[in-house]
Amino acid sequence: MTNTTPRKRLFIRTWGCQMNVYDSARMADVLAPVGYAPAEAPEGADMVILNTCHIREKATEKLFSELGRLREAKAARRAEGGEMVLAVAGCVAQAEGAEITARAPWVDIVLGPQTYHRLPEMVARASRAAGAVIETDFPAEDKFDHLPEAVAPQGVTAFLTVQEGCDKFCSFCVVPYTRGAEFSRPVVQVLAEARRLVAAGAREVTLLGQNVNAWHGEGPDGRDWGLGRLLRALAEIPGLLRLRYTTSHPRDVDDDLVAAHRDLPQLMPFLHLPVQSGSDRVLAAMNRGHTAADFLRTVDRLRAARPDLALSSDFIAGHPGETAPDFEQTMDLVRRVGFAGAFSFKYSARPGTPAAGAPFQVSEADKDARLQALQALLRDQQDAFNRSRVGMTFPVLFTGPGRHPGQVVGRTPWLQPLHLTGPLSLVGTEASVTVLATHPNSLSGLLAAGAASQTVQPEEEPAPA
Ligand code: SAH
Ligand code: SF4
Ligand code: F3S
Repeated sequence: MTNTTPRKRLFIRTWGCQMNVYDSARMADVLAPVGYAPAEAPEGADMVILNTCHIREKATEKLFSELGRLREAKAARRAEGGEMVLAVAGCVAQAEGAEITARAPWVDIVLGPQTYHRLPEMVARASRAAGAVIETDFPAEDKFDHLPEAVAPQGVTAFLTVQEGCDKFCSFCVVPYTRGAEFSRPVVQVLAEARRLVAAGAREVTLLGQNVNAWHGEGPDGRDWGLGRLLRALAEIPGLLRLRYTTSHPRDVDDDLVAAHRDLPQLMPFLHLPVQSGSDRVLAAMNRGHTAADFLRTVDRLRAARPDLALSSDFIAGHPGETAPDFEQTMDLVRRVGFAGAFSFKYSARPGTPAAGAPFQVSEADKDARLQALQALLRDQQDAFNRSRVGMTFPVLFTGPGRHPGQVVGRTPWLQPLHLTGPLSLVGTEASVTVLATHPNSLSGLLAAGAASQTVQPEEEPAPA
């Protein structure tokens, strides 16, 4: 007998961090058993989910302009005799649920990040309800116990959430309010999900958490494990060639994590470690819990353990109270560390956070000037780092076809995209590549002479030299 349930089309748009990308995949997983299959576009879809980010102002503006467009798509769907269920998920939903339903009453469901396992039930309720269904409580049950196993294959590189939420309450940040308290997923759940990802073709897994290195849990040995121990257990999974984790907090880099960088070849030599500022005064105002010198010491410990480690970071220009000399200290810190890449942002006052109401807000003009100076320096460092790879030979993990026919694209250990002319059979394997040149957003290279691709499928053809 064939399945007579009509397939419904689901479109999800995702903004924000990698955890939102992961969450969107899990929402698709939870809706698959009730008949929803992925759609390419919102037009004509039976359900549209906007998975939002609240970290800076523009994110909310983008949501409301998208909701304006979707109002028309929804009316068009109705004119065809269909229905479009419109849901807003993610951190804006959590923070501004009431404003969303007031400003956009055509939204059917508003749901916060801790309620995704309840989505099928909310869809059913929305079809009966007169107004919007709103779920922004932090439920007592753990969503990970109620979400189905991650099913949709993510490809050669995959994300795995191990930790969520934040108890650190930096002065500027909404995350503790939108994601709730710090929570670590149990070891067995993480290892099982990693094995499933590898069975579905993943060769690189990035562990995700708002404070991923605050992760801890009871291991099978009855001891409390930290992230370093978890990484060691993950490194034993056959076929899992590469491990990464993000985002770390400088306060939680313990000795075992540093030792994992020394001991595990699978742990890639690239770490995103946000510092935000190089001024101790500003770091204290931000409630970061560390000084610039603490950060530099942490960098030294990591580089001593793994000399080829490259770093990226996040910076905020113009936090309330930041003076020109404070900003110069940030520039100094950047010069001393030398980053391979970085994200930098103008301070954006977020409602409900302590910094939003603080005295001595920095003028837009000063924020702009500082951000430009910082970004120019960081761009130079990134270019220098990329150029320093030219002529080097190292393993690249191939992830898919390149933009041009006959090309494949992959990732270096330092997360740079690299393309070369080569067969598609390289995808899913790691092979040694010599870098020939740098381009604005990537590197190009040649398979190294005698390069044998490392694969877990022995029947696959070896890569031609
Ligand atoms: N948990 C991570 C950061 C998560 S948010 C950490 O502790 O570092 C990602 C980045 O957005 C932050 O590192 C910060 O640089 C930036 N950010 C957060 N709130 C901001 C705000 N109000 N204005 C400007 N940038 C902000
Ligand atoms: Fe936000 Fe600070 Fe928590 Fe990072 S550590 S998520 S910046 S409050
Ligand atoms: Fe944005 Fe929420 Fe991630 S505010 S950055 S989507 S945790």
